[in-house]
Amino acid sequence: QAFFKPIQNTASPSSTKRHTKVSVIGVGNVGMAIAQTILTQDLADELALIDAKADKLRGEMLDLQHAAAFLPRTKIVASVDYAVTVGSDLCIVTAGARQNPGESRLNLLQRNVALFSHIIPPLAKYSPDSILLIVSNPVDVLTYVSWKMSGFPSNRVIGSGTNLDSSRFRFLIADHLDVNAQDVQAYIVGEHGDSSVALWSTISIGGVPVLSFLEKQQIAYEKETLENIHKAVIESAYEVISLKGYTSWAIGYSVANLARSLLRDQRKIHPVSVLAKGFYGIDGGDVFLSLPTQLGRGGVLGVTNIHLTDEEMERLRESAKTILEVQSQLGM
Ligand code: NAI
Ligand code: LAC
Repeated sequence: QAFFKPIQNTASPSSTKRHTKVSVIGVGNVGMAIAQTILTQDLADELALIDAKADKLRGEMLDLQHAAAFLPRTKIVASVDYAVTVGSDLCIVTAGARQNPGESRLNLLQRNVALFSHIIPPLAKYSPDSILLIVSNPVDVLTYVSWKMSGFPSNRVIGSGTNLDSSRFRFLIADHLDVNAQDVQAYIVGEHGDSSVALWSTISIGGVPVLSFLEKQQIAYEKETLENIHKAVIESAYEVISLKGYTSWAIGYSVANLARSLLRDQRKIHPVSVLAKGFYGIDGGDVFLSLPTQLGRGGVLGVTNIHLTDEEMERLRESAKTILEVQSQLGM
């Protein structure tokens, strides 16, 4: 007995809409924050979850499936077997060790590179045309490692990078000036970490460049105030980790923001970790770090050519050097 009495002669339109599949590897704090934001924002037709812990994985899948009545219809699958990721458009990697309180991201490198040798090759095998979006830390070096291990062209290997740091920066500036963070354009670039670089010259509020605005209004501003805001950005993760043990919600929204630009071909500019060699005078080797980058369905569409001050250029090169020094330990 059919549930529905068919309406005669309904020619179902050919389903030309592509089936969008997203895989999230690692269903810990970060992976699940990303997964639930992708579901809430209706960014995928199918969500595949992967982890090394089978019970946790099944539990997270069931828990999300039980929300079906409140979410856009999305097929949710999970397995410890990477075959479940087959045909993904976007693979988001959050698996790996996280910082202990006070520990730097770079200190996680050896533990997480070892994991990646079991994660990236199967992802590349099952979804050879996908975009890899790396979140695990140290994200810049692990994005380089993923590029090497996958054999993908660099435009399809991206790290979440300072998209998160820039959101923290925009929040702090907006809070300081009592405006909406979405009206604050401001970039942090370089390492997602202690050597990140605040591009003060790029900050604008509702299209008004801040520094020149302050100078025109002869509003004295303390360079120290600006530096303190950047220091607060760098301290953000350490503070949250010391208070709740990890960070998750902001990175969840940050990665969904990137997933939307990629999957919906938004051609939006985000500060994300890309192969930076050849841009802004960075030439010390194949290094991934965050630059303002246009993202669309093909991954990295281009890197913007922002005018940097001499100081900003120098700090960016220092950041590249820091990452390359750590990366050189890998011998890759
Ligand atoms: P977590 O410990 O809650 O989750 C990690 C998950 O990875 C666990 O479920 C674990 O079972 C899984 N896993 C471990 N080895 C695996 C393997 N070989 N294959 C598949 N899954 C495996 O950690 P959390 O808090 O989710 O952080 C995950 C990573 O994300 C850390 O490296 C952390 O530093 C990073 N992170 C990066 C941010 C960024 O802005 N780039 C922001 C926040 C966290
Ligand atoms: C953060 C760290 C965990 O920025 O990468 O939240």
